[in-house]
Amino acid sequence: MYLIILDSETDFDGWRTAARTLALHHVAPEDVRWSVQGQTSDLMPPGLAEAPPHLPSTETESSFSVPAHFLALARVAILHRDGERFALLYRLLWRLKVDHDLLDRMTDPDVTQPAAMADSVRRDAQRMRETVRFREIGREQKAHYAAWFEPEHHIVAFTAPFFARRFADMPWSILTPDVCAHWDGHAVSFTPGISRAERPAPGRLEETWRRHFQPRRMSTPAAQANRRNLQEASILEPLLADAERWTGGRIAPRPEAPMAARTKPADDLDALREEAAHCRACPLYKDATQTVFGEGPQSANIMLVGEQPGDKEDLAGHPFVGPAGQMLDRALTEAGVDRKKVYVTNAVKHFKFVPRGKIRLHQKPATPEIRACRQWYEREVSVIQPDLIVAMGATAAQSVFGKITPIGKTRGRLIDLPDDRKALVTVHPSYLLRLPDPKARALEYQRFVDDLKIAAGLQKKSAHAA
Ligand code: URA
Repeated sequence: MYLIILDSETDFDGWRTAARTLALHHVAPEDVRWSVQGQTSDLMPPGLAEAPPHLPSTETESSFSVPAHFLALARVAILHRDGERFALLYRLLWRLKVDHDLLDRMTDPDVTQPAAMADSVRRDAQRMRETVRFREIGREQKAHYAAWFEPEHHIVAFTAPFFARRFADMPWSILTPDVCAHWDGHAVSFTPGISRAERPAPGRLEETWRRHFQPRRMSTPAAQANRRNLQEASILEPLLADAERWTGGRIAPRPEAPMAARTKPADDLDALREEAAHCRACPLYKDATQTVFGEGPQSANIMLVGEQPGDKEDLAGHPFVGPAGQMLDRALTEAGVDRKKVYVTNAVKHFKFVPRGKIRLHQKPATPEIRACRQWYEREVSVIQPDLIVAMGATAAQSVFGKITPIGKTRGRLIDLPDDRKALVTVHPSYLLRLPDPKARALEYQRFVDDLKIAAGLQKKSAHAA
């Protein structure tokens, strides 16, 4: 029997490394217990051994592969509060080793349970994004904004980057019983949660904030520790993998509703599409026919991002169906990418144009429009969880990287994004259509195909080393 102690409730890397090692050493799921630092004493029956000390290093040993979307699923499901999740995911990994198509069996409980957990986590993250309301506090010094939220799952670090981008201009704190997230305009940091007993009554948020965080009052050891954490935990990259290291305390498993069948995975995307259909975040909706949302399977591991729908797309309601879409289809086929398996979307979801007689002339979206629309791109990413995001053109690159990004310097190579994702920057297919010189166009087209071949390589693998 092995006891695996993870660093935190959200220690995906620790789980992944341990699970891989165990599976490579043929340790059956029933011979493993999973726990989290600080929760082990009452879990450890006599005679338990700790892994990995009893398992030799696997670095020189052969590997095995599992479908890429298993990792995407595990990364989200691990944020569920159910204490059984680590074991459930290991059992699924264990079975996937010999049964690659297992994830397609939607009635197998080893598949449906983690899938339902991931769905529940995503719904909770969406609830947080939709319901967190900041209140202004600390007016007499510098304005600060705070909100109280009680997450169902361990989603605070998962959603913090969303709030950092959405409310980039204001310093905020989200207080929760698990962990508190803070944004100072540059970086997200995390401090221990505030117990439910101290939950601020309606209208008393400021008091709670002052008690825990206001600098003048930081005289108790706990408050000083909080301040130290605030200073020391400040990070440039908001997605701290082990952000909840401080949560501590035992978290009891919650009974989960019976999960007979996999909840429809497209629900989130459908809900998102429906919500985006009514988007009024910038004025472009006024003249466009409709929102043109992304399309493709939710399980896609590649996401293609264009600029905005064109005339044809605006009328049809589908991305990349006009001339640029035909050019893209041709290049994808030549590169060996199956469009049916990728998710195709745009940085801006409404057509921007000026009317010229009977035609509507495409206009490049401006930064405020790209910013206003970025929430949809972010939420598409959080539902699809792609491994690779291909930014086609400058507008797409601006959305993917959250800042103006020159194509020339970044083109054609894999660039790290948060969350273990990669980005690939290339030109927009419309650029190729506009090149007047046939020779230059052929050359540029070939470069475009070559860029897409990088995505093809990833799609062909379609399986990842665990
Ligand atoms: N250009 C884009 O960027 N997106 C489309 O959907 C069509 C043309």
